Amino acid sequence: MEKKRAQWGSKIGFILAAAGSAVGLGNIWKFPGRAYEGGGGCFLLLYLIMVVFLGAPMMLTELSVGRASQTNIVGAFRQLGHRRWSWVGWIGVIGAFVITCYYSHVGGWVMRYAFGYATEGERIYADSLGYFYNMLGCHADGTTSFPWVAILFAALFMAINAVVIIRGVESGIERFNKIGMPALFLLLLVLLVRAVTLEGSRPGIMYMISLDWGKLSFDTVLAALGQAFYSLSIGMAIMITYGSYLPRTENIARNTALVCTMDTLVAILAGFIVVPAVFATLGEQQIGKGGGFAFVSLAGVFRQMPGGTFFGVVFYLLLLFAALTSCMSLVEGIVAFLTEHFSLPRKGTTLAVCGSMFLIGCLYTCSQAAFPLKGIWFDAANGTTSPAFCDAMEFLTDRIMIPVCALGCCVFVGWVWKPGSAIAEVEQNGVRFGLARVYAVLIKYVAPVAILTILAMNFATGMTLS
Ligand code: PHE
Repeated sequence: MEKKRAQWGSKIGFILAAAGSAVGLGNIWKFPGRAYEGGGGCFLLLYLIMVVFLGAPMMLTELSVGRASQTNIVGAFRQLGHRRWSWVGWIGVIGAFVITCYYSHVGGWVMRYAFGYATEGERIYADSLGYFYNMLGCHADGTTSFPWVAILFAALFMAINAVVIIRGVESGIERFNKIGMPALFLLLLVLLVRAVTLEGSRPGIMYMISLDWGKLSFDTVLAALGQAFYSLSIGMAIMITYGSYLPRTENIARNTALVCTMDTLVAILAGFIVVPAVFATLGEQQIGKGGGFAFVSLAGVFRQMPGGTFFGVVFYLLLLFAALTSCMSLVEGIVAFLTEHFSLPRKGTTLAVCGSMFLIGCLYTCSQAAFPLKGIWFDAANGTTSPAFCDAMEFLTDRIMIPVCALGCCVFVGWVWKPGSAIAEVEQNGVRFGLARVYAVLIKYVAPVAILTILAMNFATGMTLS
């Protein structure tokens, strides 16, 4: 199969695309709530440690596996090792598939809210819970209907992804990210200025830099690692696939550092936006994560904030860009695998994959409040997400599949392909990899032990975690 492989057209294009994959709902939707629960500053510190010692080496590993093998995630393990190792890739592909099913629907809701704030902010403020319910097909008079608004927007969200992916790596993904990511940074800055200048935001800011070790538990450590991997798009089909489009002239080590820094910066900034803004408007106890928080509680924040409706639009646009650029990386990982592994055409494969993920995702949307899967996880009585279904998905992907795939990947590189090969891949074209020794120790010993421990704890503590 001597077809010429797609490549990124420019250095900045790759960096923005990889950062686009990393920066997603995880950074803006999940991270602030996690940071709050984990005690603010302590969690930030712990998170940074995870990113530096585990996240960054893992990203470097995936990128070099991708570039060295020049193929998709399953093919990469076969090529560099043996077909025995292709299960690692399969877990990545399946995990990416499961994530995309719900990710695309949440992306659709985000899009609906961006429109909603732009056109009918007052309606959202008047009854923020009702508005959310309505979108999901559950009405004030107790009747339910098909949640066509949510589904329509999810379809639109998926369609955008499909169009970009069909256009290919350089003129699709890269071009979209070159516009989307700078826009995202700009929106983020606007919101940051708004949040920290709000009256009463100071306690929130202080909380985020406080080091209250009492709040730190073992579960926080588990959550920090799960969050770091998820946020960096590690343990999925993604960074291996994106790495496979990297030209040999690129410095993988420097790119890894840049992408990790950008992703972590966005997460921390989002923490410094959401937490102080909620402290200043709704009060401390209201901080949470998940659907109920991102769509219902935040309406209260925007209602009380001067210029809130405008900032509401900005916030959901930010989330939308973040979600789109992450979702397209998930789709690309799957499409790259299917097209190469089974020699399928890109266009048809993309349409089939996106279509099926959209359809499966409909179960997710329909399980919120509406007929026929009423209330599997949305607790109508309290207006909160009753986490069973949502958590089950999150548990399966964040806490099992991602760590298992990451573990397979680091054991493979540490003991089969050998760190020396990864280092040689980084050091192509006269690039110096100053931290090569440290990297070898981290990937061979530290990462497998850490991930295995955490995986064991995840299994042991099971579904009670969230
Ligand atoms: N990193 C993305 C986020 O933070 C999610 C994601 C996970 C994307 C895995 C791709 C792969 O939301």
